[in-house]
Amino acid sequence: MRFLAPLVTFLLPTVALAAVTGSSNTDKRATAGYVLKKGPLDTPWTEKVGTDPWPEYPRPQLQRSDWLNLNGVWQYQNATANETNSPPFGTDLKQSVLVPYCLESALSGVMGSRMIWSWYRTTFDVPSNWTRNNRVILNFGAVDYEATVFVNGRKAGFNRGGYWAFNIDITDFLHSQGKNELLVFVYDPTDMGNIQIPLGKQVLEPSHIFYTPCSGIWQTVWIESAPRNHVTQLDVSADMHGEVNVTVHITGNVSIPVEIVIHEANSPDSIKHTATGTTGAAFQFSVAKPDLWSPSSPTLYNITVKAGSDKVQSYTGFRTISRGVIDGVKRPLLNGEFVFLFGTLDQGYWPDGLYTPPSREAMIYDLKALKNVGYNMLRKHIKVETALFYQACDQLGLMVIQDMPSLRPSVPVSPPTPGCNVDSVPVGNVSAQNEFDRQLAILIEQHKSYPSIVTWIIYNEGWGQETKREYPEFRLTSMIRSLDPTRLVDSVTGWNDHGAGDFHDNHHYSSPQCGTPFYSIASTPYDPSRIAIQGEFGGIGHNLTIANMWNVQKSINQINNTYEIDADLTIWNRRAHSILGELQEQIELYACSGAVWTQTTDVEGEVNGMLSYDRRINRMDLDMWRSDIQGLYDAAAARSGNSTTKVPRAEGLAMGLMSGVE
Ligand SMILES: *[C@@H]1O[C@H](CO)[C@@H](O)[C@H](O)[C@H]1NC(C)=O
Ligand SMILES: *[C@@H]1O[C@H](CO)[C@@H](O)[C@H](O)[C@H]1NC(C)=O
Ligand SMILES: *[C@@H]1O[C@H](CO)[C@@H](O)[C@H](O)[C@H]1NC(C)=O
Ligand SMILES: *[C@@H]1O[C@H](CO)[C@@H](O)[C@H](O)[C@H]1NC(C)=O
Ligand SMILES: *[C@@H]1O[C@H](CO)[C@@H](O)[C@H](O)[C@H]1NC(C)=O
Ligand SMILES: *[C@@H]1O[C@H](CO)[C@@H](O)[C@H](O)[C@H]1NC(C)=O
Ligand SMILES: *[C@@H]1O[C@H](CO)[C@@H](O)[C@H](O)[C@H]1NC(C)=O
Ligand SMILES: *[C@@H]1O[C@H](CO)[C@@H](O)[C@H](O)[C@H]1NC(C)=O
Ligand SMILES: *[C@@H]1O[C@H](CO)[C@@H](O)[C@H](O)[C@H]1NC(C)=O
Ligand SMILES: *[C@@H]1O[C@H](CO)[C@@H](O)[C@H](O)[C@H]1NC(C)=O
Repeated sequence: MRFLAPLVTFLLPTVALAAVTGSSNTDKRATAGYVLKKGPLDTPWTEKVGTDPWPEYPRPQLQRSDWLNLNGVWQYQNATANETNSPPFGTDLKQSVLVPYCLESALSGVMGSRMIWSWYRTTFDVPSNWTRNNRVILNFGAVDYEATVFVNGRKAGFNRGGYWAFNIDITDFLHSQGKNELLVFVYDPTDMGNIQIPLGKQVLEPSHIFYTPCSGIWQTVWIESAPRNHVTQLDVSADMHGEVNVTVHITGNVSIPVEIVIHEANSPDSIKHTATGTTGAAFQFSVAKPDLWSPSSPTLYNITVKAGSDKVQSYTGFRTISRGVIDGVKRPLLNGEFVFLFGTLDQGYWPDGLYTPPSREAMIYDLKALKNVGYNMLRKHIKVETALFYQACDQLGLMVIQDMPSLRPSVPVSPPTPGCNVDSVPVGNVSAQNEFDRQLAILIEQHKSYPSIVTWIIYNEGWGQETKREYPEFRLTSMIRSLDPTRLVDSVTGWNDHGAGDFHDNHHYSSPQCGTPFYSIASTPYDPSRIAIQGEFGGIGHNLTIANMWNVQKSINQINNTYEIDADLTIWNRRAHSILGELQEQIELYACSGAVWTQTTDVEGEVNGMLSYDRRINRMDLDMWRSDIQGLYDAAAARSGNSTTKVPRAEGLAMGLMSGVE
């Protein structure tokens, strides 16, 4: 076991509610069966997880005070395809699982493979002081891929899609007193057979850039008490001029008056603005002189919404994302100014929890590491995170370019890479395309109120992208614009560009080709009618010793498929300096407006992270990276008529190397 340097404690404003009923649902009998598995690699947080994971209030943009967290040790049993027709009601299942960690993860205590069909079971009490007239809502943060939910022996609901929050009003299924039984049947085929579902990097047979899949419940499960007519969704957008656009969605399709209070940013009891409207339809109002949200000053305003007898808390940030022409070049504008978007490719994988970070503290550690060296953005790569992740980006001031989780690659990965010849399936599967479209709309609807998200991505490198006319990205770009007119759309990042959307986006390793008058295989020539961004570059690697590596022989054998391996950290940093220098030159001379460095952390057999997969090694020479990143912002400022833009950096944070490597 390595020596662990003390972890930095982060002083993030917390949004835990003052009076919550949330607490663990730990059942002593079941807990006895849970054992943390020893996985191929752990993190500094693994041992700290315990049996009461992710206790935080899970829905910061629609908070209610009465809630109960159901995370903890549940029962689990491997299943077969048709068992959903004969649920094991009232029966103890064979194994234990720690919810909410993927069944393939060490933290789940299962660490299985081919987890195609599964049963989950727990019991819960409804707090006796929850108002009798209210409804009890069962919430799931995310279940990959299909969940059939049974409460007290009856089917209560179903959800399809591995990345989306869903809830079920279970009031009519509850016992008037005593324990209630919750059974969940999960089906997650991943890339079995011809199946084509939004799944990102998950494959049943991991191979270099494709990783271990995540099956089952992987985000917080909880119940809450809400009035019969309650707010189901709150759409809030607030711009640089103080214009606020709100839609309050409510159950029962009733149209009732809404009262909104916007609190002062730094003074909870002072009111900045009040407004009124009606549920079910968008209404607008104007707030005088708000402090704007930006990476260097991520001001957020708390909001209270009252509709009938329901009252919820939320927040927003005032900012405008747009495109404009500066000195003849198309640019992304934040609050009317060209801001160079510089981020990492952020996969969101963890060696102990896979899709689920071991804890919120761990999750925020990555974000702080990026912020600390000067990144102002991250590209959330073909994965969707918990609401608490986007809230943290809102609070820290990290812009997010959000990908739709891709379908499987539809052509063999190009250029052909030894060791990552994943099975491919043909494009043009109509039912798969329709389901992709439906889930893309859910991505937008569920995430359009986070100020940090600045751009949506539809297709990554042609994966699942139909390349015959009519190219689907045109239709899908229009759909996104109608659901969310406030952001930019990067329709196609890498490979098959047909001119859709706001960006011209090349991928090229290791050196960038960003708005340049030259391009290579799998890139396309710069299109001056759109904003030039380098959706992926960098990717340079550096091997580690086994102590910090995903200790799976097949992954280790594929390490040399990383785009470039540098002999040691000095060389790695020197190479990064040279590549960042090329990017700076492309900002100075050409039309480059943003770039995404591959990547935040190592993942399995990929050894090209800023941080190692276990987060114990930070490869960056921080002084060099800060200076090089400042160079990018300075070069961009020189092209925008502004003198300088300071690197937005988290205050008072010294990260340093967590441990060295030789
Ligand atoms: C219900 O009881 C819990 C303590 O068990 C408390 O935290 C919570 O505030 C109570 N809720 C109401 C609505 O009284
Ligand atoms: C789970 O069951 C399937 C068959 O339904 C089987 O192929 C698989 O090996 C089982 N996995 C485990 C971990 O038992
Ligand atoms: C499940 O049931 C269907 C018919 O309903 C049948 O065709 C299929 O073979 C069954 N699958 C398994 C694994 O038993
Ligand atoms: C199309 O996709 C669906 C959903 O994944 C799958 O069930 C079906 O087998 C696919 N059809 C073909 C022809 O590949
Ligand atoms: C308000 O938002 C809705 C979508 O939620 C949009 O259709 C409408 O155009 C927006 N109105 C204004 C004035 O921005
Ligand atoms: C909700 O009400 C509006 C009119 O108030 C109506 O157009 C719409 O069809 C209703 N939706 C549902 C689901 O009942
Ligand atoms: C905003 O609300 C959260 C609870 O939702 C609270 O913790 C925080 O202190 C509030 N911030 C301000 C500035 O009022
Ligand atoms: C990387 O390091 C591991 C562990 O030391 C070693 O087994 C492997 O051969 C190395 N791979 C390369 C490509 O250097
Ligand atoms: C990669 O490393 C493996 C052994 O770890 C070796 O067999 C293979 O030839 C290497 N491939 C290349 C392209 O160097
Ligand atoms: C930065 O440049 C833009 C565009 O040239 C201009 O609108 C803006 O006022 C400038 N801002 C500052 C702080 O100089």
